[in-house]
Amino acid sequence: MPLTDGDPGTTDTWSEDLSRDFQDFGECLVPDRQRQRHIMAEILAHGLSAGDFGAQPLVVELACGDGTLAAHLLDRLPTARFLALDGSEAMRAESAQSLTRHAGRAEIATFALEDPSWAEGLRAAACVSSLAIHHLDGPGKQALFETVGRTLLPGGVFVVADLVKPATAAGWHIAADLWDQAVREREQDLGTPGAHAYFRDTGWNFYEQPQPDPVDRPSTIFEQLLWLEASGFRDVDVYWMHAGHAIFAGLKK
Ligand SMILES: C[S@@+](CC[C@H](N)C(=O)[O-])C[C@H]1O[C@@H](n2cnc3c(N)ncnc32)[C@H](O)[C@@H]1O
Repeated sequence: MPLTDGDPGTTDTWSEDLSRDFQDFGECLVPDRQRQRHIMAEILAHGLSAGDFGAQPLVVELACGDGTLAAHLLDRLPTARFLALDGSEAMRAESAQSLTRHAGRAEIATFALEDPSWAEGLRAAACVSSLAIHHLDGPGKQALFETVGRTLLPGGVFVVADLVKPATAAGWHIAADLWDQAVREREQDLGTPGAHAYFRDTGWNFYEQPQPDPVDRPSTIFEQLLWLEASGFRDVDVYWMHAGHAIFAGLKK
């Protein structure tokens, strides 16, 4: 995705302009977004039911965006308390709208993905993040996985949905092609004119860009699974993958 100029910026890697674009077109830009929400909710529901986390387990979402995933998860996890974190003011405002009916169980706050202080004093049953961790470089991701590992209670579940870096040229080509196709189909299904043109014209398709991208820095699925294991997670696994996007998770030892 592009880094926009002339915007005060939320962080080094994200801007309020991007937040607004993502609010307009996110349903089309993310492949199989509804299925992804369903899969993440199922992983969390199974993980929480298998552990002993008390009557109101705490779930933390890193980079909650517009709060759509948070609302879906709160519907699926009726006893959970939720902490939804995001660095963008526009996204937090949108999350507040999405979570109106869950207001008693959800808190929304700012954070910076690069700064581990969000975790200070927190002990959570689960942590989830969608389409954000790829903004960190490799060492940044490892540090974040370690922070999450320290924050989760034993048996706690960490679910990540994100762009992943293909290991081969064939993987890059296939991811680019499938993502383009997914956005075209979604634009048709939802009747959102302009979504595919935006995707194409702004260079949103990471897999079509040969040059290094300062905003999107995905790592391979393989190295991220190893980093999870090294950060104290067991039963690390991939649950879904399509068009360069993957859902993977682990349980805190
Ligand atoms: C592509 S959106 C994904 C939003 C949501 N998780 C979803 O899946 O629809 C990326 C989100 O990450 C947030 N974000 C990006 N970089 C961040 C950073 N360094 N610190 C905090 N939030 C950040 C943005 O504000 C935005 O809401």
